[in-house]
Amino acid sequence: MIKVGLCGFGSMGRGHAQLLQKHEGVKLVSVADVRPDCREKAAADYGVKTWESGEAMIAAGDLDVVFICVPTYLHAPLAIQAMKAGCHVFCEKPMAMNTSECADMIAAANQTGKTLMIGQVLRFWPEYVFLKNAIDSKEYGKLIALSMTRVGGVSTGWDNWYLDESRGGMQIFDRHVHDCDAVLWMLGTPKEVYAYGATRDPRTNGGIFHSFTEYRYSDDFVVSAEGSADTPPGFPFTACYRAVFEKGLIEFNSRLKPTLQVFAGGEPIAPELPDPIAALTSGMNISTAGPYYNEQVYFFDCLRKGVKPQVVTPEAAMETIRVVRTEIESCRARKAITL
Ligand SMILES: NC(=O)c1ccc[n+]([C@@H]2O[C@H](COP(=O)([O-])OP(=O)(O)OC[C@H]3O[C@@H](n4cnc5c(N)ncnc54)[C@H](O)[C@@H]3O)[C@@H](O)[C@H]2O)c1
Repeated sequence: MIKVGLCGFGSMGRGHAQLLQKHEGVKLVSVADVRPDCREKAAADYGVKTWESGEAMIAAGDLDVVFICVPTYLHAPLAIQAMKAGCHVFCEKPMAMNTSECADMIAAANQTGKTLMIGQVLRFWPEYVFLKNAIDSKEYGKLIALSMTRVGGVSTGWDNWYLDESRGGMQIFDRHVHDCDAVLWMLGTPKEVYAYGATRDPRTNGGIFHSFTEYRYSDDFVVSAEGSADTPPGFPFTACYRAVFEKGLIEFNSRLKPTLQVFAGGEPIAPELPDPIAALTSGMNISTAGPYYNEQVYFFDCLRKGVKPQVVTPEAAMETIRVVRTEIESCRARKAITL
């Protein structure tokens, strides 16, 4: 039995806790949260032992795996503490606040031999996996142009941590990091980035809350991405991409049904979506697999097999932090920056 302790029973922690119930041979045994009401809810929902902080839970020992779902400024210290205490770590995105913290996490993973996987969930999201497969296979020819969108309302979180640049890193860092990671996963690191954005007070109001980035690969191949945390209440969260190939166009829009369509002449086709964990599901009694479940299944499968996760390595997650940090620098310097 793999014994799991979860740090942070806020919105992501609750989502992960629910999905952790669906695995065979995995048991959520402890939950830590600094808020008493969150601890009470965790105990009531799952009958787990609760702790007043992630630090205390890890120090108490007796865990095989720690899930880190606390605000981003706490990812590195808790992940490092957990690995040094002998635990494997699943840590929510963004990996950490900066590349220096990421490097410390990687060093701890290397020293301890423990597994560290970052929840860059688009790598397990069927519509994004479909696009990566199309790019790799060249089924529709070469990719000519790609635009990505991730827009929605503001996130505040416990103690308004999302709105504080020093604890959450701003929208461009926290939310848009998903699209940045997907672009790097599919296409590698661009030659330079140029980003521009609208900024509020970075101490109290979320900093750069609407941004546009150009990932410049060559003179004739640029990827664009828009990210925001500023849409008014009532505007639904929207994730999209539009990919133009030599022989077709693939469009994803989280607000449409079907979400994915391929235009390659004639009527648009709604392709069957790939199941990124299909090869891993045997014997595990899985019914439906959302992207967050997919990444959990992959993580536990790697632990069982004793192999390090390849779909998202700590080094790749750190590269994403480097690029998104450079985007922020570009926004502030108002110029393109070479990577
Ligand atoms: N993968 C995704 O799609 C996705 C989506 C949303 C958030 N996230 C990430 O998940 C993480 C958590 O975000 P959230 O929206 O759940 O935040 P949240 O504010 O809802 O929850 C964070 C929880 O951590 C608790 N906490 C704070 N300090 C703690 C400590 N020292 N020990 C234990 N608990 C502590 C808080 O009380 C709170 O309940 C962030 O890094 C965020 O970027 C990922």
